[in-house]
Amino acid sequence: MKNSFKLANGTQIPAIGFGTYKIPDGEDAYNSVKEALACGYRHIDTASLYGNEESVGRAIRDSGIAREDIWVTSKVWDDDQGYEKAKASIENSLKRLDIGYIDLMLIHWPIPEGFEGDWAELNLSTWRAFEEAYKEGKLRAIGVSNFMPKHLKPLLAKCEIAPMVNQMEIHPTYPQKETVDFCQNRGIVMEAWAPLGRAQDLEDPTINAVAAIYNKTPAQICLRWAYQHGIVTLPKSTHVERIRDNRKIFDFEIHKNEMELLDSLPDDKRISRHPDNLPR
Ligand code: A2P
Repeated sequence: MKNSFKLANGTQIPAIGFGTYKIPDGEDAYNSVKEALACGYRHIDTASLYGNEESVGRAIRDSGIAREDIWVTSKVWDDDQGYEKAKASIENSLKRLDIGYIDLMLIHWPIPEGFEGDWAELNLSTWRAFEEAYKEGKLRAIGVSNFMPKHLKPLLAKCEIAPMVNQMEIHPTYPQKETVDFCQNRGIVMEAWAPLGRAQDLEDPTINAVAAIYNKTPAQICLRWAYQHGIVTLPKSTHVERIRDNRKIFDFEIHKNEMELLDSLPDDKRISRHPDNLPR
């Protein structure tokens, strides 16, 4: 399939998804997802935490696009970690979305905020619920989010089915190279949340200089940079013209010199929570 990456189980995930974090449930979420689908997005990223699964599902059902042509990701939140709770959380997401199956379910964070127990065991117990739902066909693929190599290693050692995806904060000024290399070497596809660094990277002079060379926007440069590194991106915008423009990254290629320039940016501009709950 065009403009998509292949997961370890052979399914194809569209390389750009529409992120719905902080889009309020109701008309906002419904309209923005419908808009994104109308603009050509075929991949919607939500989570039980976002509280907008019902509207996301309704927008998908009303879109007139065949269910199998849309990729939908959701996530199990911190409070629902552990076998029984994760199982219930998956069922609740399936009910709220009401689109038959979910394409990808992720463990949202490796260590629930404030959790002081054995997080590796907790992840594994959640993972058993994921493996079960995957085998039952309720989930087409399963993965994790915000897992650094040290969080992945104990899971990889004991799981039956390896995570197929890891979704992290990734943008040119926070490329998380160690985690990306670790995952890609093991056939785990990386996804980038906040691929524009929540708009912070759009001010970066190097990114702007590269954008000028290619006659593209800084946002398109950030998204194309990730695509060329084999990373799925989940940009977010509340403006229709930006939603539309952010997808237009498949008609040009950033050459080696500019890729190297982008790869050499200082890599310390994390904008959100650290997987170990460290302060910013
Ligand atoms: P807005 O919703 O006003 O368009 P990220 O995807 O990294 O989380 O970044 C989202 C932020 O980037 C939002 O503040 C969004 O603002 C802004 N944004 C998204 N696309 C663009 C764009 N093409 N140009 C400028 N800002 C953008």
